[in-house]
Amino acid sequence: MTEKTEEQIALDKDITGALNMIPYGFYALTSRADDDRNVMVLNWFSQVSFEPQHIAIGLQKISTTYGLVQKSKQFVVNIFNKQEMDVIKQFSKSRAKNPDKFKSANWQPAPVTGVPVLDEAAAYLECEVVGELDTGSGHSLILAKVVGAGVRAKHEREETLTLLDVGWSYSG
Ligand SMILES: Cc1cc2nc3c(=O)[nH]c(=O)nc-3n(C[C@H](O)[C@H](O)[C@H](O)COP(=O)(O)O)c2cc1C
Repeated sequence: MTEKTEEQIALDKDITGALNMIPYGFYALTSRADDDRNVMVLNWFSQVSFEPQHIAIGLQKISTTYGLVQKSKQFVVNIFNKQEMDVIKQFSKSRAKNPDKFKSANWQPAPVTGVPVLDEAAAYLECEVVGELDTGSGHSLILAKVVGAGVRAKHEREETLTLLDVGWSYSG
């Protein structure tokens, strides 16, 4: 591998610095394939089109969640208000590190897909995968159509839990 020039190192630093300035929400992604269910935390999530209403997530390919989503082509994005920060934080480790994490989740099957929705979520989006782009970096860009949703605890948009509230980061 050729050594990076000083200009390339400076550019890398600026790219990382700029990426770290993107504000994010902080969500729990739930998944299910047959009888296997899981939950993971996620911030790489955005709406990307109006009609149809598509969203996109960046999903780590070695995660248990990725395997479940590959199988079922479905997942749910759980959106929280700031008060529920401690609920979502307990799901931050991978299943490999915390095999019992889903056992502590309170959930109901979502009406359209049957994927778990966490009881404490203020709102949720049921999603069906319509496309995938492997970024080659260990994450895939997953494009999905929103096929179901619920708003359970109406709150102002500024009360939605963000990554900044939690004080963690996943970018750069
Ligand atoms: C603050 C934070 C944000 C994260 N955001 C993402 C994300 O957007 N996409 C992703 O694939 N992983 C993200 N992760 C890592 C996953 O949560 C991690 O891979 C997870 O433990 C996988 O769980 P699983 O193997 O049980 O599916 C994030 C982790 C933390 C701590």
